[in-house]
Amino acid sequence: MGNGLFRTRAVKDVADHAPEHRLAATLSWPHLIALGVGAIVGTGILTLIGVGAGKAGPAVILSFVIAGGICACAALAYAEMSTMMPASGSAYTYSYAVLGEIIAWAVGWSLILEYSLVVSAVAVGWSGYAAPLLGAWLGMPMEFMQGPHAGGIVNIPAIAIIAVVAALLSFGTRESATLNAGLVIVKIVALAVFVSVALPYLDAANFEPFVPYGFAKSVSPDGVERGVMAAAAIIFFAFYGFDAISTAAEETKNPGRDLAIGIVGSMIACVAIYMLVAVAAVGAASYTSFANSPEPLALILRELGQPGFATFLAVSAVIALPTVLLGFLFGQSRIFFTMARDGMLPIALAKVSRRGAPVRITIFTAIIVSIIAGLLPIDEIAALANAGTLVAFAAVAICMMVLRRRAPDAPRTFRTPLWWLVGAIAVLGCAYLFISLPAKTQLYFLLWNLLGVVIYFTYARPKVSRQGMA
Ligand code: ALA
Repeated sequence: MGNGLFRTRAVKDVADHAPEHRLAATLSWPHLIALGVGAIVGTGILTLIGVGAGKAGPAVILSFVIAGGICACAALAYAEMSTMMPASGSAYTYSYAVLGEIIAWAVGWSLILEYSLVVSAVAVGWSGYAAPLLGAWLGMPMEFMQGPHAGGIVNIPAIAIIAVVAALLSFGTRESATLNAGLVIVKIVALAVFVSVALPYLDAANFEPFVPYGFAKSVSPDGVERGVMAAAAIIFFAFYGFDAISTAAEETKNPGRDLAIGIVGSMIACVAIYMLVAVAAVGAASYTSFANSPEPLALILRELGQPGFATFLAVSAVIALPTVLLGFLFGQSRIFFTMARDGMLPIALAKVSRRGAPVRITIFTAIIVSIIAGLLPIDEIAALANAGTLVAFAAVAICMMVLRRRAPDAPRTFRTPLWWLVGAIAVLGCAYLFISLPAKTQLYFLLWNLLGVVIYFTYARPKVSRQGMA
């Protein structure tokens, strides 16, 4: 509606889209909780806990609390918005309907960054656990198979796992969701085993000094940005994934009820699991021993003299981490799909196969994220993914608050409790996390957005105007 940069687009009923641009509704809430936990529990807790410990020391536990609290507030806003507007574009669609086109473009552009880079980061995290296992099995060192930052040429395991997951997704949504549910159980069991093995070794000395690098982000003498907030800005990665549930809205049988259960349920489950794992990890071993390790939880178990459990954890991670890839590759294809259907990206990408899966976009995404995963280190990829996600989360919280003022009586199946407080915490918290990211990440994010602005004015806007906001 309207013609300016801030014109809005009402959310279409799913049935209004042409059949070749419509996704098949096959999912219900157990699938969605599994999709959520499957997308949330991953490289953040398994690998980035080591990066976080390097930045905050034992106070990485505090970083988990801060990032988790902000994410929980954002999750409530997502639950409200996704049940009001069940469409596969997630934050992009809500922003288009509430805040206007140019903001929607910026949010969509951020979501592309989030979803692509999460897939890349998780593939690198998977490789961190898989490569040593493969090396032990083959009896040879695997360094040559890592990316250039780790002394190799290109990260081959990371590329291979992306190819496998993309192939699976191309078969269709329901098959992928069922397999996902099984793998989620493997992941939860592995973390439960970690906690029960590590907790008895808890030693108060490992919590001292609790905050060795201060609270706010500051640059250490070695040039690395550290502090509880710097760690929280990275650990934030561990908590998101529930937003991928909202991209499944059009494929959900009863979105009004199931999306809220899926989003809030998976978030609560994950916050509980993470707090236990973080306390067990930091308490059982000195943070210096596992900081920045590519497989910190397995390393801790080996240090505790439990190599059998370490191998069990690594094997479980290798089997189950692909659920995160599945969730985000799924979400990425849906975001692209929605933007293309709106005319913001080439429409040829938005075709679905006869089984209802957007195959072209899945393959296109897989190729791009493989290149990134093959070449870059995990912490840099994760930090940039976080930047995109923070923008999307803040936008969803703003949409939720604006709609409460603008349309207080609109039907809402899920209502955020204390909406103004929850919304404010989400927006201000995301802003604080954003400024706590590494300066380099902020610069890259700015460059990404400059590119986005150029594409918006030269491609997306003229095309959407021509096509008359159909
Ligand atoms: N939360 C997801 C993970 O930690 C992205 O892998």
